[in-house]
Amino acid sequence: MSQPSRHVICRLVEIPDPGARGFSLPGARFPDEYFLVRRGAAVHAYRNSCPHAGRFLNWKPDAFLTRDRALIMCSAHGALYRMDNGACAGGPCGGAALTALPVAVEQGEVVTYIREKQL
Ligand code: FES
Repeated sequence: MSQPSRHVICRLVEIPDPGARGFSLPGARFPDEYFLVRRGAAVHAYRNSCPHAGRFLNWKPDAFLTRDRALIMCSAHGALYRMDNGACAGGPCGGAALTALPVAVEQGEVVTYIREKQL
C-alpha cells in the first residue's frame, strides 16, 4: 500500500472564523467534494455529501453553515449537523453523520494526508 501524501488545502486564515470553505483534492471528480469548517483554532473536514439523499450540502460556494454559523446545514432539505463531529443535529438526517476527512493545522496550513484510494 502506498504511503499517504501530504496535501495542503489552504492556510487557516483563509477560512472565516467561524466559517466554512469548500475544496477538492487531486483526482476528485467534482469541485468542492469536501468542505472545511472552522471555529477558532478547531478545523474539521467533511465529504460534501448529505447522508439524507446524497446531495451536495451547499447551494453556492462556501455556503455550508446556518445563518448564525452554529451548525452545518444542508441546503436541499434542511438537515443540520454539528461542526465538531458531523453528527446529525436536526432535520431529516435521522441520526446519520457526515463523513469526516482527517485534517490538521501545521504551521498555519490546513493539511490532510491522503492515499489515492481515499478519493
Ligand atoms: S439531501 Fe440533505 S437534507 Fe436532504
